[in-house]
Amino acid sequence: MRIAKTVDEVRSFLKESGHSVGFVPTMGFLHKGHVELIKKARKLCKTVVVSIFVNPTQFTPNEDLSIYPRDFEHDKTICENNGVDIIFYPPADEIYHDSFLTTVTVVKLTDVLEGKSRPTHFEGVTTVVAKLFNIIMPDLAFFGKKDAQQLIIIRKMVEDLNMPLKIVSVETVREKNGLACSSRNNYLNDKQKKQAVVLYKALKKAEAAIKMGQKECSIIEKIIEMEIKKSEEANIDYISCNKIDDMTKLNKIIENTSLISLAVSFGKTRLIDNIWV
Ligand code: PAJ
Repeated sequence: MRIAKTVDEVRSFLKESGHSVGFVPTMGFLHKGHVELIKKARKLCKTVVVSIFVNPTQFTPNEDLSIYPRDFEHDKTICENNGVDIIFYPPADEIYHDSFLTTVTVVKLTDVLEGKSRPTHFEGVTTVVAKLFNIIMPDLAFFGKKDAQQLIIIRKMVEDLNMPLKIVSVETVREKNGLACSSRNNYLNDKQKKQAVVLYKALKKAEAAIKMGQKECSIIEKIIEMEIKKSEEANIDYISCNKIDDMTKLNKIIENTSLISLAVSFGKTRLIDNIWV
């Protein structure tokens, strides 16, 4: 496994490898969810590249970039153990030089859900992901369904800008109790961690109601809300049923094209989760 810290370095490593390239962009502090993406890339591609870059431009002004968890040595071991060929681990000024002026924006899909609550977030994501795609030039890039809106927006960017790669999605990896793995779970204290299990429980309850024939989104959202409100520390930001392809709000569930997603804070920690129906 090799570690590149500059764009020239990573490009020269890739030139030498010359095989189909699978790319897993991350912000590090790797957990089981990231590992699943790496495993899928390992299965489908000859060369696997993981980027570890805590992207400053996707943090909104009230979010603290400096406390985002980091542990490069731990990440390196996880990559090594899972057959990663190259880690791209650039410092911030390798990605954004002082005179940087260009951004990539996907409109409309970014107006709702996470985009509404975190207005500049997705522009930061699409800009850095476009840059990383240009640097690595992968054949396949892997993204988790855990960040559903991000995945949908990146697919759209790739389609609209004719980027020559395919996006592969990976199912959400969860702890045994159902809590979706996330670097942000580390901010939760033990009590909050126990309470956060309510998110997946609520989504499963909604899924069961849909299976029993419930299609009314307002009722489904209410079922989720009532379950989450059983947890005293939970503070709901949104619960929403949206159409997967264009992110418009749904009144009724349409099978195979609906996303039910939520964002809920426990103390200062904001968690997101979803199910694809
Ligand atoms: P990060 O939060 O590190 O996530 C990197 C990738 O791992 C994303 O595609 C995310 O959806 C996926 N992932 C996270 N938790 C997961 C889980 N429990 N199950 C399955 N996949 C999971 O998302 C980002 O970083 C950044 O926005 C990035 C795309 C790297 C751009 O900076």
